[in-house]
Amino acid sequence: MKLITNRIKGMQDLLPNDSDKWENIEKVMKEEAGIYGFKLIRTPVLEHTELFERSVGDTSDVVQKEMYTFEDKGGRSVSLRPEGTAGALRAVLENGLHNGPLPVKVMYVSSCYRYEKPQSGRYREFFQFGMEVFGSESATADAELVCVASSILKRLQIKNVRLEINSIGCPQCRKEYNETIKEYFKKYENELCEDCKNRLGRNPMRIMDCKNKTCGEISKNAPIITDYICGECSEHFEKLKKILDSQNIEYKINPKIVRGLDYYSKTVFEFICDIDGAPLTICGGGRYDGLSEIIGGPKLSAIGFGMGMERIFAVMKAQNVEFPAENLPKVFIASLDDEIARLKAFELCEKLRKSAIYAGVDVMGRTLKAQMKFADKIGAEYVLVIGEDELKTNTAKIKEMKSGKEFTINIGENFVEDFMALELKKYMG
Ligand code: HAM
Repeated sequence: MKLITNRIKGMQDLLPNDSDKWENIEKVMKEEAGIYGFKLIRTPVLEHTELFERSVGDTSDVVQKEMYTFEDKGGRSVSLRPEGTAGALRAVLENGLHNGPLPVKVMYVSSCYRYEKPQSGRYREFFQFGMEVFGSESATADAELVCVASSILKRLQIKNVRLEINSIGCPQCRKEYNETIKEYFKKYENELCEDCKNRLGRNPMRIMDCKNKTCGEISKNAPIITDYICGECSEHFEKLKKILDSQNIEYKINPKIVRGLDYYSKTVFEFICDIDGAPLTICGGGRYDGLSEIIGGPKLSAIGFGMGMERIFAVMKAQNVEFPAENLPKVFIASLDDEIARLKAFELCEKLRKSAIYAGVDVMGRTLKAQMKFADKIGAEYVLVIGEDELKTNTAKIKEMKSGKEFTINIGENFVEDFMALELKKYMG
């Protein structure tokens, strides 16, 4: 087969054989977020480009190199969202949610787009499950968010997850730190990778996070931010650690976590898991107290995180986590190739469906034998056959496929009740 085109590089199809698993992950995330008081928010996939330029920041790789930006038919520059935070904050402010009771707690599952080099765990279209808290400057909000992320990962049965935290201070304390490390890295300017040479002038702290081997070696001895943060930022960080300790949440302080987006201040954190021996960040987030004002809103403290859905899925598969059983048809109603029998089969099938029972019926014009084969292939638990006798007597044999046991069932008025009674009997033993 030669299609006129295939899917776009770095983008994936979610196919039915994985969709139940995927939906289950989303369900667990949303349920846990609900327990912590978060409500769903949905924002457009397209925003005006300046929203991301100002928020994610023009010194970030995301804005500099990775955004899908184009002009719409009205000549405005728009971008596909590279992440969920900026749009969520814009929506909260634009709709005045910050004028209601605080904090505002939102969650989202959003497709995101980054023109990155595709590799395992790194895609050009990916999904983020995000949670954001607006209006609290307290470290308790930071702790609550780390706790909910941790419980989600636990409920998904992901093992060997490391939590790494850091404080990157506020713009005031970062000023001095930036000057200090700029001086430090300047000594090694010629050895830095091209990206980091660029970072040196714009945002030297980001060099700490570079994956290039030489840059990594150089940054090993660089001054660390935690030695430079001010009293208030330090107190905030201590309070967070104290709450995490009280909850027995294990963490490591990693002064190298600076995060790749420009809007962060104070707390930053990442949950990391190894997959095939390589570390993979499955969740990243932090505080962004200054962002509201940057995009034209009032002072509004905020903190949040994003979980990479594909990465979570990949880790669960690699760790052989058992997913809930796939949703299979309860009953398949087969019939003779006869108009009246087919109509009856359709009618019975609809009756089951109206009672929320997953049922199937032939829509392919298959022979009875082929219908039976198909019912077996799709894993139907029971098969019921409608033929001449069944139409005459208004009763039919229903076969439990696994055991081969057959039961007689009424296919008239009391069909659904009879079927439910049969099921009940089975479970009651
Ligand atoms: P981020 O670290 O850029 O932060 O992304 C969050 C998570 O999305 C990552 O930890 C990773 O699991 C996943 N992710 C990122 N890029 C890709 C990719 N190309 N392919 C697959 N998965 C990816 C943010 O986006 C922030 N908005 C998080 C946040 C929310 N901070 C505060 N609130």
